Amino acid sequence: MKTKIAVFFGGRSTEHEISVISANQAMHAINKDKYEVIPVYITKQGKWYTGDALMDVANYRDTKSLLAKCREVYMRPVYGDYKLYTVKKPLFGSDVLTELDVVIPVLHGSNGEDGTFEGILDSIGIPYAGCGVLASANGMDKITMKMILQASGIPVVDYVWFTDKQWAKQKDSLIAEIEEKIGYPAIVKPANLGSSVGIGRATDRQQLIERVEDARHYSTRIIVEHMVEHLQEINCSVLGDCDDYITSVLEEPIKSGEILSYEDKYMGGSKGAKGMQASQKRIPADLPDAETARIRFLAGETFRVLSCHGVSRVDMIIDRDNRNIYVNEINTIPGSLSFYLWEATDIPFDVLMDRLVSLALKRKRDAATKTVSYDQNIFSLGGGVKGGTKGKFGTK
Ligand SMILES: Nc1ncnc2c1ncn2[C@@H]1O[C@H](COP(=O)(O)OP(=O)(O)O)[C@@H](O)[C@H]1O
Ligand SMILES: [Mg+2]
Repeated sequence: MKTKIAVFFGGRSTEHEISVISANQAMHAINKDKYEVIPVYITKQGKWYTGDALMDVANYRDTKSLLAKCREVYMRPVYGDYKLYTVKKPLFGSDVLTELDVVIPVLHGSNGEDGTFEGILDSIGIPYAGCGVLASANGMDKITMKMILQASGIPVVDYVWFTDKQWAKQKDSLIAEIEEKIGYPAIVKPANLGSSVGIGRATDRQQLIERVEDARHYSTRIIVEHMVEHLQEINCSVLGDCDDYITSVLEEPIKSGEILSYEDKYMGGSKGAKGMQASQKRIPADLPDAETARIRFLAGETFRVLSCHGVSRVDMIIDRDNRNIYVNEINTIPGSLSFYLWEATDIPFDVLMDRLVSLALKRKRDAATKTVSYDQNIFSLGGGVKGGTKGKFGTK
């Protein structure tokens, strides 16, 4: 019997289309002698569909006719139930379409890469590839992520963060703090968006206010960072788990211009940010050996301290003026699953997918060795019931 892998993709995210491409690349790379692949497409409205027609990117031009060829499905949020059910029950026979062994989430951005979907999978108890809830949520939030990295001695640019309501109440003191700690130019970002939406640079106070007002449309949490004006961007993928991982060769995404091209990038829609295969890149990046080694080390450290799992991509910024290196962000479900970096590191795409499955199964086995202490019925011990909710057990 082949192991049944469900690849989940699409989703309620600004990076929905990129996810469709990444997932299709991944599904085609999976070794079909060993595995059976079940595509599960999550629509922009949040409904789940499966069907062979989902395995061809060309079909997504007309989603209505695509979905007409598919079946709407769901899983029950019940621990241990790995079945995929059809929404429309057949007149005769079962509504169980198949039973899954492993899930590979290829959902970029919100409602996927942020831990929410991973939480569903944990509730069900099914093994899945990639980061768990904690690492996904921490990796998605640019504020929490930078706090953890900073506390771990990993270099990040200076930043100030606040909520939209704080800004409304104490704008003047926040501006003073930003000007003192960061100065201009600064870069303003909504904390938890997966694409470049809402990001902008500010060269003076007026622009800072405008940029923050813009970012407030997208998120309740906002981060203002020191802007590295002459930067070189370098990315590195990491594969494994936080106790045992390897790093890939480095890529340098090539942009059309320098600083001014940011605006183009931000206005240019959701593409580009995820490093899809189509965008220009130099692999391996042309850097001195010592810098390459340092960047690979920092990428691994970032993966480790955030307790990551599976395949991530860590994006760095080098300041060309002084060669300082900063970790900018981690993508816990990177575009194309960073397969092109692994190919350049002598790990073919099918082997990458194989490793993700093995890692998922290993994590499940490891979890099974941990003691779960809720087997005992505390009520059966007596005492607790008599005292009602104020009894001796009611202290938590
Ligand atoms: N502190 C910074 N200084 C200079 N450029 C930056 C800085 N932070 C981000 N950028 C630029 O903005 C782009 C998008 O920012 P990033 O934090 O990666 O957000 P996203 O999640 O949208 O990819 C980066 O790829 C980089 O080109
Ligand atoms: Mg980025």
